[in-house]
Formats: sequence, structure tokens, C-alpha cells
Amino acid sequence: MSQQRSQWGSRVGFILAASGSAVGLGNIWKFPYITGENGGGLFVLIYLACIILVGLPILVAEIMIGRAGQSQPILAFHKIAGRRTGWSIVGWLGVLSGFIIGSFYIVVAGWAMDYTLKSVVGFTNPMAEQAETQALVYRATASDQDMQELVVEHRTRYELDRAERNWRRQFSPSTWSHWNDYKSAVEADADPEKLKEHTGIAAAANQVEAAQGQLKEAQDEILKSSRAEVSELSKASPIELRDEAETIKRRMLIRDQVTSVFMQLLGDGWTSTFWAGLFMFIAILVVANGISSGIERTCRVLMPLLILCIMTLVVYGFFQTGFNQALAFVFKPDPTSLEPKSVLEALGHAFFTLSLGMGAMITYGSYQRSQSGGLVGESVAIAGLDTGIALLACMMMFPIIFSYGQDPSGGPGLVFMSMPLAFAEMGEIGMLLGIIFFGLLVFAALTSAISILEVVASYLIDGHGWSRHKSVWIIGGSIFGFGIISAFANSAGFKMTSWLPGYGQSFFDTMDLLTSNWMLPLGGLLIAIYAGWVLPARIRKNELSDLSGFVAGAWLFLVRFVAPILVIIVLLDKIGLIDVDEISFHLMH
Ligand code: TRP
Repeated sequence: MSQQRSQWGSRVGFILAASGSAVGLGNIWKFPYITGENGGGLFVLIYLACIILVGLPILVAEIMIGRAGQSQPILAFHKIAGRRTGWSIVGWLGVLSGFIIGSFYIVVAGWAMDYTLKSVVGFTNPMAEQAETQALVYRATASDQDMQELVVEHRTRYELDRAERNWRRQFSPSTWSHWNDYKSAVEADADPEKLKEHTGIAAAANQVEAAQGQLKEAQDEILKSSRAEVSELSKASPIELRDEAETIKRRMLIRDQVTSVFMQLLGDGWTSTFWAGLFMFIAILVVANGISSGIERTCRVLMPLLILCIMTLVVYGFFQTGFNQALAFVFKPDPTSLEPKSVLEALGHAFFTLSLGMGAMITYGSYQRSQSGGLVGESVAIAGLDTGIALLACMMMFPIIFSYGQDPSGGPGLVFMSMPLAFAEMGEIGMLLGIIFFGLLVFAALTSAISILEVVASYLIDGHGWSRHKSVWIIGGSIFGFGIISAFANSAGFKMTSWLPGYGQSFFDTMDLLTSNWMLPLGGLLIAIYAGWVLPARIRKNELSDLSGFVAGAWLFLVRFVAPILVIIVLLDKIGLIDVDEISFHLMH
């Protein structure tokens, strides 16, 4: 092992590098869309609680282990816990997670690069033009009746969904899943009477069927009042109605094209591979340059740039009509749009977004001197920056999403479909904003990808004494090689979607689920248990010596009890031993 271990140039440099790791696709691509899918407000609040109660304590634990061990995770556990205790398994799990996360992360980052270039050449301009013409034709040819119907459909779509969601709440999750089984069996021509010989199914079917009138009534009510409103509008000012119908039509047409552009990229393994490779190449160049002159220097430039880009878009959003709506959506708690499962999703995301559970922060912490103080302050700064940027990402995207009539719960496509659509509608300025937006996505992904690469490569550097250059090229090359499978996962010609017969998920999604849902929480759980219960008290004391007894005690309590228990609940729910939705349904009824 080398005597001259590299170090960060400064504390600020460390904080920027660690928050560079934390701030990534998770903040800008994932957080806004899961917030959208979970109805905003209350979900954000729960997420904040998860960051404070679980994320922050484990972040402190990881940096502490890194500082004390002065090595990447596997060797840090060897050193502190001893070779024979088996704790280094946690390090191995982390290296494996890093390998897997890296492999699909570079594919998404590659798409962001592709979209940056697409924005430079103004890829949405021709779509916007074509849609404009077609929408004009529509306006000139469609009957008033058709236009009214289009407007009604458009105006009521969320309300109808919401009515259905609220209606569904009266059934327990198990009732609802029986009902779904029943329905799909009937659609496949099964005899309803025979199905109802199963008492659970019979009870569920009867219960849901009996309540169906209610739903229809509620939805009819919504449609009726909207129809009245729209026909009123068409009488009072027919031009306004036609304007609205034309706008809706135009956006639908752009949406079709933007969607097909994304689907094409998704299905194009070669292009995805090319960009993933280029992205990995850049990450390799950075990491090969070392800790302070490679990683730290890059993050010092990119992090402020990233914040500047986000602020530019937030300020733009501030002047848009949808700003207040976005503000309310993100910050106003609305209990009716939250499912209990969302709590689990918030917790899982807290791990991913803070780069926890695979030893990335152990690795970064190991380039600080042990007992250099300020541990909790640094962690609060990192978690604060990460959370702040995630919230800013919402405030940059949702005003645009709402102003251009898009669905906030657009899912994973929010970044690659809904945003380009809005940019297309803006014309020239949209091109500029698109470049800024996708560029910032690339920067965010780069500062995260280098941390993933560093964890895996440092095993060869610290453990086998290999040179940094050689380790980084070999590891980076292998992660890229493995990533090619994810790049081709959606290509029809390569049949990677059916890599396991009879199993519905693509290879890409499987890698994501495997790490985010299982490996990271498991790794985080073990790290919390280790730091809270096993780590010699002397080390804990040394690293936290500059803190008041209260803060240190609070940390110990969280990392010993709160964090492990919450993570165990999540894991038990995932395994299927408990069903949080079912339990909370019965608690509330
Ligand atoms: N935190 C990054 C994001 O939000 C992703 C990431 C980087 C990561 N390094 C990690 C996730 C280590 C888990 C573990 O996009």
C-alpha cells in the first residue's frame, strides 16, 4: 500500500467533490419525476425526513469509516474490523454495486449528451413548424363539436384520474389485486362464475362491482360540468375556444414526434453505446488525473456552473404562467395524492441521491485526514446542497411543465420528452434553454460517474498497488463493456428485452432495480449497523471529538436505531414479508 496517500486540496474541495457525487441524474432526472408521480408536497416533506433521519446519519458514518480506514471500502473494513470478521463483504458489495450502477448510469448520461447535441442543432424546430401547420389545418377543418370535445378531454384528464385514485382508496390493496386478477381472467374469456368459487376473489369482485356506480357518477359529474363550461365558452367567445383547441392539438402533435425521437434513441443500441463510451472516456480522463488535480478540480468548476445553469432556468420559470402552480405542487402538502408505498420510495431515493450504501463516501472520506474535524458540518453541507439542488430542479422543471400544459406525473420521460416539448413551443429561446438544460444534466452526471469509477478503481490502486492510470483505464473500460448490454437493452434487433424468458423487465431496468432497491439499502443497513454497534467507540469519539455531546448522541441514536429499523422495514416490504400498503390501509380503516 502506498505511503503517500492522495488528499483533497481543501475542505471546500472535498465538499464540492462529495456533493458532486451526490448531485446527479438522481436529482435532476429522477427526483422531479417521482415527486410528480407521488403528487408533490407531502412526498417532498417525507423525503426531507428520510434525508435527515436516515441519509444524513449514514453519510456521517461512511465518511467516518473512510477517514478512520484511510482506504477504499474493502480495505477500510479490513483495517478497522480485521480481515477475519467478514465486514469487508460490505466493501465487496459496494464495489459490485458501483460496477453495476456505473454501467447503466453512463447510458442515461450518454442520452443527455445526445440531447445536448440535438439541442445545439435545434432538433425541435422542424417539429414545431410542422405541428403548427397541421394544427392550423385542424383549426380550419374540425367541427366546433369536435373541438369542444378535445378541450373537455384535455381539461378533465387529471381530475378524472384523481377521482379514480380517490375511489380506489376504499379498497384494501389485496382486494384491489384480487379484482385485477379477476378482471384480466374475464378478459381472457374465463367464466366469471367459476372464478368466483374462490372466496377472496368473489368478495373482491362483489365489493368493487358494487362500488363502480359511484366512480361513474363522480366522473360523469366532472365531465358534465366541464362540458357546460366549454360550451359556454364556445358561445361567449368562439375564437378563444378555437385557440385553445389549436394549442392542444399542436402540443399533441409535437408530443408524438418528441416521443418518437426518444424511442428511437432508446432502441438504438449503437448510438447509445457510442455516447456512453464517450461519456466514460471523459470520466476516465478526470479520474486518471487523481484526487485533487482530477476529481476535485473538475468539481470545483462544474458544480458552480451547474448551479448557475439551474438558477438560470429557475429564473426563467419564475416569469412563466405556471410558476405559482409549480410552487404549490412542490411545496403544498396534499395527503390525498400520497400512497403509503411512497414513503418507501422516498427512503430508497434518499440512498441513491446521497450516493450512500456502496462506499462512495467511504472512498471520498478516505482522502481526508483522520481526526481532521468538521465531519458533521461537512455532511450537513453535502446533504443540504444535494437536497437544495433537487428542490431547485423541481422549481426549474415544473413551471415549464405546467406552463406548457404537460403532465407533472410524466414519469421517466419527463426529462427526455416533456422538457423538449416545452422547448419546442418556445422557439428560439427554447433552443438556448435546451442546451443549458441538457448540458447541466451532463455535468451533474459526470461529477457522479467519476465517484462511481473512483470507488471501483481505487480497489486496484489501494489493494494491489496498481498505478492510478492503469487501474482507471481497466476498470472504466470494463464498466463500459458491461454497460453495452444496457445500451442495447431496448433494441428490438438484439432481443435484449427478452433476456430472461417470461420475465417482464429489461436488462437495463433490472440493473437499476437490483442496485437501487436491494444492494444500496442492504449496504447502507450494514454500514449503519457497523458504525453504530461494531465500530470501536474510540474511533467514533476521535472523529466526532469537536462536537457537543448532544449532537454526537443524536447521531448515534439515529444510526443505531432509526436508520436500521426504517431500512429493515423497506427491505421486508420488498421481500414481501410485510405489505406496508395493506398494513396502513387497515390501520386507517
Ligand atoms: N448520487 C448520484 C445521483 O443522484 C448517483 C450516484 C453516484 C450514486 N455515486 C453513487 C448512487 C454511489 C449510489 C452510490 O445521481
